[in-house]
Amino acid sequence: MAFNQAQFKDIIAEFTIDTERLHQIAATFRQDLQLGLRDVTQSSMRMLKSYVGLPSGNEKGEYLALDFGGTNIRVFKFRLDGGGKYAIIKRVGRPLIVPGEYDYICKDATAEQMFDFIAELIDEAIDGDHTTKYYLGHTFSFPSTQTNLYDARLIIWTKEFATQGVEGQVANDLLVEALKRRGAGNVEPVAVLNDTVAVLLSAAYKTPDTFIGSIYATGHNTCYLEPTIHDPKGVGSGGMILNLECGNFSKIVPNRFDREYDEGSEKPGEQRFEKMVSGRYMGELLGMAIAELLGEKGKQYGLTSVDMSMMILDDSPNLQRATDILMAKVGRELDYVDVAKVRELAATIVIRSARLVAASFVALVWQRAGSGKIQQQHVAVDGSVYEKMPLAKENITRAMSELLGEDAAKVDTILDNGGSGLGAAIAAAMAQK
Ligand code: BGC
Repeated sequence: MAFNQAQFKDIIAEFTIDTERLHQIAATFRQDLQLGLRDVTQSSMRMLKSYVGLPSGNEKGEYLALDFGGTNIRVFKFRLDGGGKYAIIKRVGRPLIVPGEYDYICKDATAEQMFDFIAELIDEAIDGDHTTKYYLGHTFSFPSTQTNLYDARLIIWTKEFATQGVEGQVANDLLVEALKRRGAGNVEPVAVLNDTVAVLLSAAYKTPDTFIGSIYATGHNTCYLEPTIHDPKGVGSGGMILNLECGNFSKIVPNRFDREYDEGSEKPGEQRFEKMVSGRYMGELLGMAIAELLGEKGKQYGLTSVDMSMMILDDSPNLQRATDILMAKVGRELDYVDVAKVRELAATIVIRSARLVAASFVALVWQRAGSGKIQQQHVAVDGSVYEKMPLAKENITRAMSELLGEDAAKVDTILDNGGSGLGAAIAAAMAQK
């Protein structure tokens, strides 16, 4: 069965955002941010305080870093040498879920099981040494309310996590208890931060003129340095970094696929922007569009953003790779013309995602500039979609040029690979001051 051309064109149109609409989206994002700065309850973004500003770049010493933000948990031992320099002394990692073996992110898993698993990994990173004192920075990448640099209380799970007994709890308290159960009470968590904040700290440690940090991966979120907020309990300079939790930005009109996906998701109504842009969801949106084209609406194929990336990268004359992926996931041998259409659809979904993310970056650049001139700056980004998804980075750059015009020359995005680990170590060092 060949795809219906009119239906195909209609779906492409649903996922296409022209320059004018992009401008409106950036302006709406900025308005929502400004509303939140006056009264956070008025914004669809959570705009959470981090109690940390920028590092000096001269932070020094050895620190542990726990990077807990997706299905892969990583623990590092870093040596910070100051002058923006550092070394990784040890690195261990393990997934929270291995299908068929164990799963610490499902509804049946408990907080205790999850944090015991993490404590075990930390123990591995310190080679079972239960006497030396270790200070740990914890990148906990889920929306959490903070009252200081140590305690972050999880508001709500995102990224389809469902482990019981963590929402409403202070993540570091759960970690401390697990470390004690393991006999590793010598590891002391001293700072907790969102991964976007970690990326900003990490980038700013190495590169001056970086004020915005973002994750563009399984999940999506951005933070920025807000110069007008200061708190006696905070550390660092230049104001306070606000974790926007802009994955929850919802003042944007979703298309029918966005709406339908949201309704069937783990947390309907939540993370509407994230469900339009991040790696966890792009494959699902593509799958829904394909199902509509094949007349099997509602069927799920389990397409992932990695599948999408491989299909987009397949530029062979017969699109064999893409055909094989679709055969494996969709269960049908599509003809060349339809496979080409699926590729176009995948590209369109990625481009929409990149353009939306770019609009949010530009909104922040505008906000920081206020009525003054836009300053020369970098936007630090980490994450698999930014780093590896074909078309993502180039379309962010293109969209930023469309929105910023001549000022686009002053703003670029830079990859801060591994920033969520390094940033945690920097935060731990800042907490020691
Ligand atoms: C979380 C954010 C996080 C982002 C990227 C989102 O689902 O709500 O806290 O920064 O994912 O990991």
